[in-house]
Amino acid sequence: MERTYIGELTSHEGKTVTIKGWVDVRRDHGKLIFLDIRDMTGYVQCVVLPNHADAHTIATDLRDEWVVEVEGIVNARPERMINSDQHNGTIELEATAIKVLNKADTPPFDVRSDGRDIGEEHRLTHRYLDLRRPRMQRNIRERHTIVRFARNWLSDRMFTEIETPLLTKSTPEGARDFIVPSRLGEGVFYALPQSPQQYKQLLMAAGMEKYFQFAKCLRDEDTRKDRQPEFTQLDMEMSFVTQEDVMALNEALLIELVTTLYPEKKIQQIPFPRITYSDAMEKYGNDRPDIRINKDDPHELAFCWVIDFPFFEKTDEGGWTFTHNPFSAPIPEHLDTLMNSDNVGSILTTQYDIVLNGYEIGGGSIRAHDPGVLKRVLNIMGHTDEKIYEDFGHMLRALASGTPPHGGIAWGLDRLVSLLMDEPNIREVIAFAKTGEGRDLMMDSPSVIKQDQLSDLHLTISKKESKK
Ligand code: AMO
Repeated sequence: MERTYIGELTSHEGKTVTIKGWVDVRRDHGKLIFLDIRDMTGYVQCVVLPNHADAHTIATDLRDEWVVEVEGIVNARPERMINSDQHNGTIELEATAIKVLNKADTPPFDVRSDGRDIGEEHRLTHRYLDLRRPRMQRNIRERHTIVRFARNWLSDRMFTEIETPLLTKSTPEGARDFIVPSRLGEGVFYALPQSPQQYKQLLMAAGMEKYFQFAKCLRDEDTRKDRQPEFTQLDMEMSFVTQEDVMALNEALLIELVTTLYPEKKIQQIPFPRITYSDAMEKYGNDRPDIRINKDDPHELAFCWVIDFPFFEKTDEGGWTFTHNPFSAPIPEHLDTLMNSDNVGSILTTQYDIVLNGYEIGGGSIRAHDPGVLKRVLNIMGHTDEKIYEDFGHMLRALASGTPPHGGIAWGLDRLVSLLMDEPNIREVIAFAKTGEGRDLMMDSPSVIKQDQLSDLHLTISKKESKK
Protein backbone atom coordinates (compact mmCIF):
# COMPACT_ATOMS: atom_id res chain seq x y z
CA MET A 1 0.00 0.00 0.00
CA GLU A 2 1.15 3.53 -0.71
CA ARG A 3 2.91 5.25 2.14
CA THR A 4 1.03 7.89 4.13
CA TYR A 5 3.12 10.52 5.93
CA ILE A 6 2.50 10.63 9.65
CA GLY A 7 1.84 14.36 9.48
CA GLU A 8 -1.18 13.69 7.23
CA LEU A 9 -2.83 10.99 9.31
CA THR A 10 -5.62 13.10 10.79
CA SER A 11 -7.12 13.48 7.34
CA HIS A 12 -7.34 9.68 7.03
CA GLU A 13 -9.53 8.99 10.07
CA GLY A 14 -11.39 5.67 9.79
CA LYS A 15 -9.17 4.49 6.93
CA THR A 16 -6.47 1.86 6.70
CA VAL A 17 -3.04 3.33 5.93
CA THR A 18 0.61 2.31 5.81
CA ILE A 19 3.21 4.44 7.55
CA LYS A 20 6.99 4.09 7.49
CA GLY A 21 9.41 5.38 10.07
CA TRP A 22 11.35 4.78 13.27
CA VAL A 23 10.29 3.37 16.62
CA ASP A 24 10.62 6.44 18.79
CA VAL A 25 9.37 4.80 21.97
CA ARG A 26 7.95 1.40 22.74
CA ARG A 27 5.83 0.79 25.83
CA ASP A 28 4.98 -2.82 26.52
CA HIS A 29 1.94 -3.31 28.73
CA GLY A 30 1.85 -7.06 28.10
CA LYS A 31 -1.33 -7.42 26.14
CA LEU A 32 -1.21 -3.89 24.83
CA ILE A 33 1.92 -2.60 23.20
CA PHE A 34 2.21 1.11 22.41
CA LEU A 35 4.63 2.32 19.78
CA ASP A 36 5.39 5.95 19.02
CA ILE A 37 6.41 5.97 15.38
CA ARG A 38 8.24 8.91 13.89
CA ASP A 39 8.91 10.04 10.34
CA MET A 40 10.13 13.39 9.00
CA THR A 41 6.62 14.82 9.31
CA GLY A 42 5.82 13.92 12.93
CA TYR A 43 4.85 11.32 15.48
CA VAL A 44 1.91 9.02 16.02
CA GLN A 45 0.96 6.61 18.75
CA CYS A 46 0.26 3.09 17.51
CA VAL A 47 -1.52 0.55 19.62
CA VAL A 48 -0.87 -3.14 18.96
CA LEU A 49 -3.64 -5.40 20.28
CA PRO A 50 -3.21 -9.13 20.88
CA ASN A 51 -5.94 -9.95 18.34
CA HIS A 52 -3.57 -8.88 15.56
CA ALA A 53 -1.35 -11.78 16.56
CA ASP A 54 1.45 -11.43 13.97
CA ALA A 55 1.79 -7.72 14.52
CA HIS A 56 1.77 -8.29 18.27
CA THR A 57 4.58 -10.85 18.07
CA ILE A 58 6.73 -8.50 16.00
CA ALA A 59 5.95 -5.54 18.28
CA THR A 60 7.22 -7.57 21.25
CA ASP A 61 10.69 -7.67 19.65
CA LEU A 62 10.84 -4.08 18.44
CA ARG A 63 13.34 -1.72 20.05
CA ASP A 64 14.08 2.00 19.86
CA GLU A 65 15.22 3.26 16.46
CA TRP A 66 14.22 0.16 14.51
CA VAL A 67 12.83 1.05 11.10
CA VAL A 68 9.34 -0.25 10.45
CA GLU A 69 6.40 -0.26 8.14
CA VAL A 70 3.10 -0.29 10.00
CA GLU A 71 -0.28 -0.92 8.43
CA GLY A 72 -3.19 0.13 10.59
CA ILE A 73 -6.54 1.83 11.02
CA VAL A 74 -6.58 5.51 11.93
CA ASN A 75 -8.94 5.73 14.91
CA ALA A 76 -10.16 8.83 16.69
CA ARG A 77 -9.07 8.69 20.32
CA PRO A 78 -11.81 8.56 22.93
CA GLU A 79 -12.40 12.00 24.46
CA ARG A 80 -10.49 11.23 27.68
CA MET A 81 -7.43 9.97 25.76
CA ILE A 82 -7.01 13.09 23.63
CA ASN A 83 -3.64 14.72 24.23
CA SER A 84 -3.59 18.19 22.77
CA ASP A 85 0.13 18.65 23.61
CA GLN A 86 1.09 15.76 21.38
CA HIS A 87 1.45 15.66 17.63
CA ASN A 88 -1.49 13.59 16.33
CA GLY A 89 -2.88 13.65 19.90
CA THR A 90 -6.45 13.24 18.65
CA ILE A 91 -5.84 9.97 16.82
CA GLU A 92 -4.22 6.62 17.27
CA LEU A 93 -3.13 4.02 14.74
CA GLU A 94 -4.43 0.54 15.46
CA ALA A 95 -1.66 -1.60 13.97
CA THR A 96 -2.87 -4.54 11.89
CA ALA A 97 0.47 -5.52 10.35
CA ILE A 98 4.09 -4.62 11.09
CA LYS A 99 7.13 -5.20 8.95
CA VAL A 100 10.67 -4.62 10.19
CA LEU A 101 12.60 -2.77 7.47
CA ASN A 102 15.80 -2.63 9.49
CA LYS A 103 17.00 -3.27 13.01
CA ALA A 104 19.09 -0.82 15.01
CA ASP A 105 21.85 -1.27 17.55
CA THR A 106 21.04 0.20 20.93
CA PRO A 107 21.67 3.95 20.39
CA PRO A 108 24.68 5.31 22.33
CA PHE A 109 22.54 8.21 23.56
CA ASP A 110 18.98 9.40 23.69
CA VAL A 111 17.94 10.92 20.36
CA ARG A 112 14.69 12.31 21.73
CA SER A 113 16.18 14.87 24.13
CA ASP A 114 17.53 18.24 23.02
CA GLY A 115 21.00 16.70 23.41
CA ARG A 116 22.49 19.66 25.23
CA ASP A 117 23.66 17.50 28.13
CA ILE A 118 25.45 14.99 25.87
CA GLY A 119 29.18 15.45 25.25
CA GLU A 120 29.88 17.30 22.00
CA GLU A 121 32.44 14.72 20.85
CA HIS A 122 30.00 11.90 21.46
CA ARG A 123 27.36 13.71 19.43
CA LEU A 124 29.71 14.45 16.53
CA THR A 125 31.03 10.87 16.43
CA HIS A 126 27.49 9.58 15.91
CA ARG A 127 26.23 12.62 14.02
CA TYR A 128 23.73 10.66 11.87
CA LEU A 129 21.99 9.70 15.12
CA ASP A 130 22.43 13.10 16.71
CA LEU A 131 20.69 14.67 13.72
CA ARG A 132 17.60 12.55 14.45
CA ARG A 133 16.77 14.62 17.53
CA PRO A 134 13.87 17.00 16.94
CA ARG A 135 15.94 20.11 17.65
CA MET A 136 18.55 19.16 15.04
CA GLN A 137 15.93 18.09 12.53
CA ARG A 138 14.36 21.51 12.92
CA ASN A 139 17.65 23.39 12.66
CA ILE A 140 18.72 21.64 9.47
CA ARG A 141 15.30 21.98 7.85
CA GLU A 142 15.03 25.66 8.84
CA ARG A 143 18.44 26.26 7.34
CA HIS A 144 17.04 24.97 4.06
CA THR A 145 14.03 27.26 4.38
CA ILE A 146 16.29 30.27 4.86
CA VAL A 147 18.51 29.25 1.93
CA ARG A 148 15.49 28.73 -0.29
CA PHE A 149 14.03 32.11 0.64
CA ALA A 150 17.26 33.97 -0.14
CA ARG A 151 17.84 31.98 -3.33
CA ASN A 152 14.36 32.75 -4.65
CA TRP A 153 14.51 36.37 -3.55
CA LEU A 154 17.78 36.99 -5.38
CA SER A 155 16.74 34.93 -8.41
CA ASP A 156 13.60 37.09 -8.68
CA ARG A 157 15.84 40.15 -8.86
CA MET A 158 17.92 39.09 -11.86
CA PHE A 159 20.72 37.44 -9.88
CA THR A 160 22.37 34.36 -11.35
CA GLU A 161 23.64 31.59 -9.09
CA ILE A 162 27.09 30.59 -10.31
CA GLU A 163 29.46 27.99 -8.92
CA THR A 164 33.15 28.80 -8.63
CA PRO A 165 36.04 26.34 -8.25
CA LEU A 166 37.21 24.71 -5.06
CA LEU A 167 40.60 23.79 -6.45
CA THR A 168 42.10 27.20 -6.84
CA LYS A 169 44.92 29.48 -5.83
CA SER A 170 45.71 31.15 -2.55
CA THR A 171 43.77 34.41 -2.15
CA PRO A 172 44.56 36.81 0.67
CA GLU A 173 41.59 36.71 3.02
CA GLY A 174 43.46 36.97 6.28
CA ALA A 175 43.51 33.30 7.32
CA ARG A 176 45.71 30.30 6.50
CA ASP A 177 44.94 28.27 3.38
CA PHE A 178 44.12 24.60 3.20
CA ILE A 179 46.28 23.27 0.39
CA VAL A 180 45.89 20.31 -1.93
CA PRO A 181 48.94 18.76 -3.59
CA SER A 182 48.74 18.28 -7.34
CA ARG A 183 49.47 14.81 -8.73
CA LEU A 184 50.13 15.98 -12.28
CA GLY A 185 52.28 18.94 -11.44
CA GLU A 186 55.18 17.89 -9.28
CA GLY A 187 55.66 20.02 -6.17
CA VAL A 188 52.77 22.38 -6.90
CA PHE A 189 49.63 22.89 -4.88
CA TYR A 190 46.10 24.12 -5.17
CA ALA A 191 44.63 26.20 -2.36
CA LEU A 192 41.03 25.72 -1.27
CA PRO A 193 39.17 29.04 -1.40
CA GLN A 194 38.87 31.14 1.75
CA SER A 195 36.08 32.83 -0.21
CA PRO A 196 35.18 33.20 -3.90
CA GLN A 197 36.34 36.84 -3.79
CA GLN A 198 38.49 36.89 -6.91
CA TYR A 199 36.19 34.65 -8.93
CA LYS A 200 33.15 36.77 -8.22
CA GLN A 201 35.00 39.88 -9.32
CA LEU A 202 36.13 38.03 -12.43
CA LEU A 203 32.45 37.23 -13.06
CA MET A 204 31.78 40.96 -13.02
CA ALA A 205 34.58 41.37 -15.59
CA ALA A 206 32.75 38.63 -17.50
CA GLY A 207 29.57 40.72 -17.69
CA MET A 208 27.42 38.56 -15.40
CA GLU A 209 26.38 41.74 -13.53
CA LYS A 210 24.50 40.09 -10.64
CA TYR A 211 25.96 36.96 -9.07
CA PHE A 212 25.27 34.95 -5.95
CA GLN A 213 26.34 31.61 -4.58
CA PHE A 214 25.99 29.56 -1.43
CA ALA A 215 29.72 29.09 -1.28
CA LYS A 216 31.77 26.70 0.81
CA CYS A 217 34.71 28.61 2.25
CA LEU A 218 37.73 26.99 3.85
CA ARG A 219 40.00 28.65 6.33
CA ASP A 220 42.62 26.93 8.39
CA GLU A 221 41.94 28.81 11.59
CA ASP A 222 41.06 27.84 15.13
CA THR A 223 37.47 26.81 15.63
CA ARG A 224 35.22 28.79 17.94
CA LYS A 225 31.52 28.87 18.62
CA ASP A 226 31.01 31.15 15.61
CA ARG A 227 33.83 29.75 13.48
CA GLN A 228 34.35 26.53 11.60
CA PRO A 229 37.26 25.67 9.28
CA GLU A 230 34.64 24.91 6.63
CA PHE A 231 31.65 27.23 6.53
CA THR A 232 29.10 28.64 4.09
CA GLN A 233 28.74 32.14 2.76
CA LEU A 234 25.84 33.60 0.89
CA ASP A 235 28.15 35.40 -1.48
CA MET A 236 27.01 38.20 -3.81
CA GLU A 237 28.52 40.62 -6.27
CA MET A 238 26.86 43.31 -8.39
CA SER A 239 27.96 45.61 -11.18
CA PHE A 240 27.19 49.33 -11.52
CA VAL A 241 26.33 49.70 -7.83
CA THR A 242 27.26 52.06 -5.03
CA GLN A 243 27.81 51.22 -1.37
CA GLU A 244 24.25 52.44 -0.70
CA ASP A 245 22.80 50.07 -3.34
CA VAL A 246 24.47 46.99 -1.86
CA MET A 247 23.51 47.92 1.69
CA ALA A 248 19.90 48.70 0.73
CA LEU A 249 19.46 45.42 -1.15
CA ASN A 250 20.86 43.35 1.70
CA GLU A 251 18.87 45.21 4.30
CA ALA A 252 15.67 44.60 2.33
CA LEU A 253 16.47 40.90 1.97
CA LEU A 254 17.21 40.48 5.68
CA ILE A 255 14.04 42.31 6.71
CA GLU A 256 11.84 40.31 4.34
CA LEU A 257 13.46 37.06 5.32
CA VAL A 258 12.89 37.68 9.04
CA THR A 259 9.36 39.07 8.75
CA THR A 260 8.25 36.29 6.40
CA LEU A 261 9.87 33.28 8.08
CA TYR A 262 10.08 34.45 11.70
CA PRO A 263 7.12 36.78 12.31
CA GLU A 264 7.48 36.20 16.06
CA LYS A 265 10.85 37.96 16.01
CA LYS A 266 11.24 41.69 16.43
CA ILE A 267 13.77 43.73 14.51
CA GLN A 268 14.87 46.39 16.96
CA GLN A 269 15.37 49.22 14.49
CA ILE A 270 14.54 49.78 10.80
CA PRO A 271 16.33 51.17 8.85
CA PHE A 272 19.29 49.41 10.44
CA PRO A 273 21.39 51.91 12.36
CA ARG A 274 24.83 52.71 10.96
CA ILE A 275 27.81 53.04 13.25
CA THR A 276 31.26 54.12 12.17
CA TYR A 277 34.18 51.91 13.09
CA SER A 278 35.68 54.60 15.29
CA ASP A 279 32.39 55.18 17.16
CA ALA A 280 31.94 51.43 17.64
CA MET A 281 35.44 51.09 19.07
CA GLU A 282 34.97 54.07 21.34
CA LYS A 283 31.50 53.20 22.59
CA TYR A 284 31.53 49.38 22.59
CA GLY A 285 35.23 48.52 22.47
CA ASN A 286 34.76 46.31 19.39
CA ASP A 287 33.65 46.51 15.77
CA ARG A 288 30.65 44.19 16.13
CA PRO A 289 28.55 45.97 18.72
CA ASP A 290 25.67 44.24 20.45
CA ILE A 291 23.15 47.09 20.49
CA ARG A 292 20.22 45.04 21.85
CA ILE A 293 18.16 46.96 24.39
CA ASN A 294 16.81 43.73 25.86
CA LYS A 295 19.46 41.02 25.78
CA ASP A 296 17.28 38.41 27.56
CA ASP A 297 14.71 38.18 24.79
CA PRO A 298 15.58 35.53 22.16
CA HIS A 299 13.21 37.23 19.73
CA GLU A 300 15.08 40.54 19.71
CA LEU A 301 17.13 41.07 16.54
CA ALA A 302 19.37 44.12 16.64
CA PHE A 303 20.95 44.57 13.23
CA CYS A 304 23.40 47.37 12.56
CA TRP A 305 25.88 48.32 9.88
CA VAL A 306 29.45 49.17 10.73
CA ILE A 307 31.09 51.45 8.16
CA ASP A 308 34.11 53.69 7.63
CA PHE A 309 36.77 51.14 8.50
CA PRO A 310 40.41 52.11 8.07
CA PHE A 311 41.75 50.59 4.85
CA PHE A 312 45.15 49.64 6.26
CA GLU A 313 46.66 48.70 9.58
CA LYS A 314 50.29 48.47 10.67
CA THR A 315 51.95 45.07 10.58
CA ASP A 316 54.22 43.87 13.38
CA GLU A 317 57.15 44.52 11.05
CA GLY A 318 56.13 48.17 10.62
CA GLY A 319 54.65 47.86 7.11
CA TRP A 320 51.00 48.08 6.07
CA THR A 321 48.39 45.42 5.49
CA PHE A 322 44.70 45.56 4.61
CA THR A 323 42.13 45.37 7.41
CA HIS A 324 39.47 43.50 5.38
CA ASN A 325 40.02 43.08 1.70
CA PRO A 326 42.85 44.23 -0.58
CA PHE A 327 40.43 44.38 -3.53
CA SER A 328 38.30 47.13 -1.94
CA ALA A 329 38.12 50.70 -3.13
CA PRO A 330 38.68 53.54 -0.68
CA ILE A 331 35.72 55.84 0.03
CA PRO A 332 35.53 58.24 -2.95
CA GLU A 333 36.78 61.20 -0.88
CA HIS A 334 39.98 59.28 -0.02
CA LEU A 335 40.87 58.05 -3.49
CA ASP A 336 43.21 60.95 -4.07
CA THR A 337 45.03 60.33 -0.75
CA LEU A 338 45.45 56.66 -1.62
CA MET A 339 46.88 57.38 -5.04
CA ASN A 340 49.00 60.39 -4.27
CA SER A 341 50.14 60.51 -0.64
CA ASP A 342 51.85 58.42 2.02
CA ASN A 343 49.20 59.27 4.60
CA VAL A 344 48.06 55.66 4.46
CA GLY A 345 46.72 55.27 8.02
CA SER A 346 43.98 57.88 7.52
CA ILE A 347 42.42 56.24 4.44
CA LEU A 348 38.94 54.78 4.95
CA THR A 349 37.65 51.86 2.89
CA THR A 350 34.18 51.32 1.46
CA GLN A 351 33.91 48.19 3.67
CA TYR A 352 30.54 47.65 5.36
CA ASP A 353 29.92 44.92 7.92
CA ILE A 354 26.47 43.75 8.94
CA VAL A 355 26.23 42.90 12.62
CA LEU A 356 23.43 41.05 14.42
CA ASN A 357 23.23 40.86 18.22
CA GLY A 358 26.99 41.27 18.58
CA TYR A 359 28.01 38.88 15.78
CA GLU A 360 29.45 39.90 12.42
CA ILE A 361 27.09 38.10 10.07
CA GLY A 362 28.43 39.58 6.86
CA GLY A 363 30.79 41.98 5.23
CA GLY A 364 31.60 43.43 1.86
CA SER A 365 32.79 46.45 -0.03
CA ILE A 366 32.89 48.33 -3.28
CA ARG A 367 35.93 47.12 -5.19
CA ALA A 368 38.70 48.84 -7.02
CA HIS A 369 37.73 48.47 -10.69
CA ASP A 370 40.67 50.56 -11.89
CA PRO A 371 43.77 48.34 -12.12
CA GLY A 372 45.93 51.29 -11.06
CA VAL A 373 44.08 51.49 -7.73
CA LEU A 374 44.48 47.78 -6.99
CA LYS A 375 48.14 47.96 -7.91
CA ARG A 376 48.66 50.96 -5.64
CA VAL A 377 47.03 49.07 -2.70
CA LEU A 378 49.32 46.11 -3.28
CA ASN A 379 52.34 48.43 -3.55
CA ILE A 380 51.42 50.03 -0.22
CA MET A 381 51.37 46.55 1.27
CA GLY A 382 54.96 46.18 0.17
CA HIS A 383 54.49 43.91 -2.86
CA THR A 384 56.98 44.50 -5.65
CA ASP A 385 55.63 44.99 -9.16
CA GLU A 386 57.06 41.62 -10.11
CA LYS A 387 55.25 39.87 -7.24
CA ILE A 388 52.03 41.74 -8.01
CA TYR A 389 52.01 40.49 -11.61
CA GLU A 390 52.92 37.00 -10.48
CA ASP A 391 50.13 36.78 -7.88
CA PHE A 392 47.47 39.12 -9.24
CA GLY A 393 48.27 39.51 -12.94
CA HIS A 394 44.94 37.88 -13.83
CA MET A 395 43.06 40.43 -11.71
CA LEU A 396 44.92 43.40 -13.17
CA ARG A 397 44.41 42.14 -16.71
CA ALA A 398 40.69 41.53 -16.03
CA LEU A 399 40.23 45.00 -14.53
CA ALA A 400 41.96 46.43 -17.62
CA SER A 401 39.61 44.56 -19.96
CA GLY A 402 36.50 46.70 -19.41
CA THR A 403 35.37 45.70 -15.92
CA PRO A 404 32.38 47.68 -14.67
CA PRO A 405 32.34 49.34 -11.25
CA HIS A 406 31.21 46.65 -8.84
CA GLY A 407 30.82 45.64 -5.23
CA GLY A 408 29.34 42.94 -3.07
CA ILE A 409 29.03 41.25 0.23
CA ALA A 410 29.14 37.82 1.82
CA TRP A 411 26.94 36.66 4.66
CA GLY A 412 28.17 34.12 7.16
CA LEU A 413 25.19 31.85 6.57
CA ASP A 414 25.91 29.54 9.51
CA ARG A 415 26.06 32.49 11.87
CA LEU A 416 22.81 33.99 10.62
CA VAL A 417 20.98 30.66 10.87
CA SER A 418 22.31 29.98 14.38
CA LEU A 419 21.16 33.40 15.58
CA LEU A 420 17.70 32.97 14.03
CA MET A 421 17.44 29.50 15.59
CA ASP A 422 18.67 30.89 18.92
CA GLU A 423 21.53 28.41 18.96
CA PRO A 424 24.70 29.31 20.85
CA ASN A 425 27.09 27.53 18.46
CA ILE A 426 27.14 27.34 14.65
CA ARG A 427 27.84 23.59 14.96
CA GLU A 428 24.14 23.22 15.83
CA VAL A 429 23.07 24.38 12.38
CA ILE A 430 25.72 22.56 10.31
CA ALA A 431 24.83 18.97 9.46
CA PHE A 432 28.36 17.60 9.67
CA ALA A 433 30.33 20.01 11.81
CA LYS A 434 33.91 19.72 12.98
CA THR A 435 35.30 19.70 16.51
CA GLY A 436 37.29 22.47 18.13
CA GLU A 437 40.44 20.87 16.72
CA GLY A 438 38.97 20.78 13.22
CA ARG A 439 38.39 17.04 13.25
CA ASP A 440 35.52 15.13 11.71
CA LEU A 441 35.10 12.51 14.41
CA MET A 442 32.51 10.51 12.52
CA MET A 443 34.75 10.00 9.48
CA ASP A 444 37.91 10.12 11.58
CA SER A 445 39.44 12.83 9.45
CA PRO A 446 42.08 14.15 8.97
CA SER A 447 43.76 10.75 8.77
CA VAL A 448 46.93 9.11 7.55
CA ILE A 449 47.08 8.27 3.83
CA LYS A 450 48.85 5.36 2.17
CA GLN A 451 52.49 5.54 1.10
CA ASP A 452 51.36 5.01 -2.54
CA GLN A 453 49.17 8.08 -2.40
CA LEU A 454 52.00 10.11 -0.90
CA SER A 455 54.33 8.98 -3.67
CA ASP A 456 51.77 9.84 -6.36
CA LEU A 457 51.58 13.32 -4.89
CA HIS A 458 55.36 13.64 -4.67
CA LEU A 459 55.18 14.05 -0.90
CA THR A 460 57.31 12.74 1.92
CA ILE A 461 56.37 13.16 5.55
CA SER A 462 59.19 14.29 7.79
CA LYS A 463 58.66 12.42 11.05
CA LYS A 464 58.73 14.41 14.26
CA GLU A 465 61.52 13.30 16.63
CA SER A 466 59.80 10.77 18.84
CA LYS A 467 60.09 11.69 22.50
CA LYS A 468 61.93 9.14 24.59
P1 AMO B 1 34.69 37.85 5.37
O1 AMO B 1 36.03 37.25 5.54
O2 AMO B 1 34.32 38.99 6.29
O3 AMO B 1 34.51 38.44 3.91
O4 AMO B 1 33.59 36.72 5.48
C1 AMO B 1 32.21 37.03 5.33
C2 AMO B 1 31.42 36.47 6.51
O5 AMO B 1 31.65 35.08 6.66
C3 AMO B 1 31.53 34.73 8.03
N1 AMO B 1 32.74 33.97 8.44
C4 AMO B 1 32.72 32.78 9.05
N2 AMO B 1 31.70 32.02 9.48
C5 AMO B 1 32.00 30.85 10.07
N3 AMO B 1 33.25 30.36 10.24
C6 AMO B 1 34.31 31.11 9.82
N4 AMO B 1 35.55 30.62 9.97
C7 AMO B 1 34.07 32.37 9.20
N5 AMO B 1 34.86 33.34 8.68
C8 AMO B 1 34.04 34.30 8.22
C9 AMO B 1 31.35 36.00 8.82
C10 AMO B 1 31.84 37.06 7.85
O6 AMO B 1 31.18 38.29 8.08
N6 AMO B 1 35.19 37.90 0.38
C11 AMO B 1 34.75 38.67 1.53
C12 AMO B 1 33.35 39.18 1.35
C13 AMO B 1 33.19 40.35 0.42
O7 AMO B 1 33.95 41.33 0.56
O8 AMO B 1 32.26 40.32 -0.41
C14 AMO B 1 34.82 37.78 2.75
O9 AMO B 1 35.02 36.59 2.68
O10 AMO B 1 29.97 36.17 9.11
